[in-house]
Amino acid sequence: MSGTPLRLLPARTIHAPAGAHVVRLAMPAHQHARWDAARLARRIRSQNSTVVLAVAGRHLAGVAVLDLLTDAAQIGLLAVHPDYRRLGVGSALLQWLESTASTAGLFTVQLKLEASNGAGRAFCFTHGYRERGRLPAYYADGTAAVRLLRDLRVDAARA
Ligand SMILES: CC(C)(COP(=O)(O)OP(=O)(O)OC[C@H]1O[C@@H](n2cnc3c(N)ncnc32)[C@H](O)[C@@H]1OP(=O)(O)O)[C@@H](O)C(=O)NCCC(=O)NCCS
Repeated sequence: MSGTPLRLLPARTIHAPAGAHVVRLAMPAHQHARWDAARLARRIRSQNSTVVLAVAGRHLAGVAVLDLLTDAAQIGLLAVHPDYRRLGVGSALLQWLESTASTAGLFTVQLKLEASNGAGRAFCFTHGYRERGRLPAYYADGTAAVRLLRDLRVDAARA
């Protein structure tokens, strides 16, 4: 991607199949199965969600979903194409989600991750998210999840 500017843009329903394709490449089958094109399209249409795409040139490099709940924002999905990792794409998407949350007046951002997702945990930790509990047998196949949370009013470096 070096030299190719990254653009972030709100997804439209026409983008749902391409978004679901990136999710399939980015996540293991038992996780990506939940994020098919129909589900992404529902989130794109929902007034309580925002879906953002990261585009590098003509390629879709990543996709993310934020759900606006009553007293917190929840990251439902954050997936970066394997060819575009460690280039700042995930960080750019996360920054968009956090800025959307704070614009909506929600300063707590939370997400759940498979407990064994070391890369996801390291990424979140770098961005000031901290673990706030473990959910045993959270997923359908019995694997555990961890709940992570960030208070946007606290500087990420000091969290
Ligand atoms: C987790 C994920 C979104 C990171 O996306 P990315 O675009 O590679 O992340 P960035 O390039 O913005 O990384 C920012 C920092 O996060 C940390 N980080 C990211 N991936 C990491 C990894 N595999 N191992 C350790 N640290 C990692 C690093 O500190 C990195 O900075 P550095 O590259 O300068 O060392 C991506 O690996 C992914 O899509 N994984 C599968 C889906 C998933 O697990 N989603 C949950 C995300 S919360």
